[in-house]
Amino acid sequence: MRKYPASIKFVLDDEIHEVNFLKTGLKPTTTLLNYLRMLPNHKGVKEGCAEGDCGACTVVLASLNNRGALEYKAVDSCLVFLPMVHAKQVITVENLATKNGREVTLHPVQQAMVENDGSQCGYCTPGIVMSLFALYKSRETKNPESITGALTGNLCRCTGYRPIIDAAAEMINIESSDHFSKKEEETIGLINKIKEEQSPVEINAFGQNYFKPFTLEDALNFRMEYPDAVIVGGSTDIALLQTKKRLHLPKILDLSSVSELDFIVEDHSKLAIGSGTSLEELNIYTKNRMPYLHEMLKYFGSLQIRNMATVGGNIGTASPIGDMLPVFIALQGEVKLMSKSGQRDIPIEKFIVDYRKTAIRDDEIIVMISFRKPKKSELVKSYKISKRKDLDISSVSACFRLKINQSKFIETAVFAFGGVAATPVKAEKASEFLMGKIWSRENAEEAAKIIANEFQPISDARASAEARRLMASNLLLKFWNETNQIVEPSKPAGIEN
Ligand SMILES: Cc1cc2nc3c(=O)[nH]c(=O)nc-3n(C[C@H](O)[C@H](O)[C@H](O)COP(=O)(O)OP(=O)(O)OC[C@H]3O[C@@H](n4cnc5c(N)ncnc54)[C@H](O)[C@@H]3O)c2cc1C
Ligand code: FES
Ligand code: FES
Repeated sequence: MRKYPASIKFVLDDEIHEVNFLKTGLKPTTTLLNYLRMLPNHKGVKEGCAEGDCGACTVVLASLNNRGALEYKAVDSCLVFLPMVHAKQVITVENLATKNGREVTLHPVQQAMVENDGSQCGYCTPGIVMSLFALYKSRETKNPESITGALTGNLCRCTGYRPIIDAAAEMINIESSDHFSKKEEETIGLINKIKEEQSPVEINAFGQNYFKPFTLEDALNFRMEYPDAVIVGGSTDIALLQTKKRLHLPKILDLSSVSELDFIVEDHSKLAIGSGTSLEELNIYTKNRMPYLHEMLKYFGSLQIRNMATVGGNIGTASPIGDMLPVFIALQGEVKLMSKSGQRDIPIEKFIVDYRKTAIRDDEIIVMISFRKPKKSELVKSYKISKRKDLDISSVSACFRLKINQSKFIETAVFAFGGVAATPVKAEKASEFLMGKIWSRENAEEAAKIIANEFQPISDARASAEARRLMASNLLLKFWNETNQIVEPSKPAGIEN
């Protein structure tokens, strides 16, 4: 019988910290939050909701990017299974201030919070400080938008956000040089040391088998050997089975450290996104390049969620309200699946077979999704309607793609929706109606009426069936409003540029 180590290692308090699950008697799916709260010096991290909504449990994970530099990411520790932090640095609020004897020097982020009265009851404060710390360490542009973006996943009930935003605004002007920067080489050395000794991890404890490969080959081997294991990408869906539904997960295949699944490759005509790519990586990548993807990602969960959630996980859920799915359907995405015996490409629409069901075989994993990049002459836009602007699940989402030929007749019309049926779906009848017609208000209104009757959505807490039908048809009119100017008579549409 094969024997892989049942332990993981990560950097905590500037040292390599090892957790041997067999010796400690810990369940492999112990969350990072629960583990940290068991330690004497890391109780600042708090549990609020245990489902990724409040941010009280926010910690920062620093990991090496493909250039060997450290990247700091805020995550909800309530959704992170402990083995997922292997070969990362775990930073909690206790790590921010420095001590010299009895003298404590607050981190610039903490100092800014104190000076701006950014805390009252303080329950949310450690999480907020950690989100601001991740922003402070971020290499992305810092501005008012990135401040609110960094705080979207943190609820504060008593201070109100103004003083917190003021603290953040003050902090982003301070040069990012702190004791973490000074120790960066040392930390990188520790992480590399862990990586040098790396082999797959296999933990069999508490009636759970947890498999953690680091290469695609090992992932496929585990998948073949344990076809009934639940695959974990970023765990933002799967962790809730444990924290909210209280389910016992007997077998888990954790793909979060398989770097071969984490890529974005683009050429002149195609984009391929590895299944392990985080939604935040994709959000940053698409910002100035692909508004149809970026617009959806901007309002996807919170930064903590996007830092963990993967593209493969969103596809794998086959959720009727999985926000990326209408976009991938409108772009005619193809899912690449791989197993030990080969690989196959399958159109995303065929991959999603029913409510939360996919066509994946039990020896396969999702490797990537690819699609042809729309030509500049194609009109592509995506939309999300939810009760709240930020950190909310869609009532209805949509992505529309329209191609109009040089004679101004519609040549391609794909209208994909989420939230209106058991799976994400296309409005086939509305598309058929528009084919060969001009993109006029009259025709758009007619198509919108068809959309209103094309689906039988359900009523739930987010919206009534009638509201969903109305939203779906009104989104098409919004699309017309936003695109009809582009198809102006003096500029024949459909010219490829
Ligand atoms: C607070 C919160 C907010 C959220 N907001 C949104 C939102 O705005 N929009 C939205 O669409 N979703 C949202 N979600 C749901 C979730 O974040 C997304 O569905 C996310 O994309 C899941 O990705 P993951 O990597 O975390 O998936 P996981 O939880 O790891 O897995 C999800 C599913 O995909 C399968 N899977 C994962 N990777 C693979 C693979 N490589 N091969 C085969 N199967 C695989 C898993 O087995 C599982 O069935 C939210 C969740 C939370 C907790
Ligand atoms: S406890 Fe609320 S997000 Fe983790
Ligand atoms: S200070 Fe009380 S919840 Fe934020």
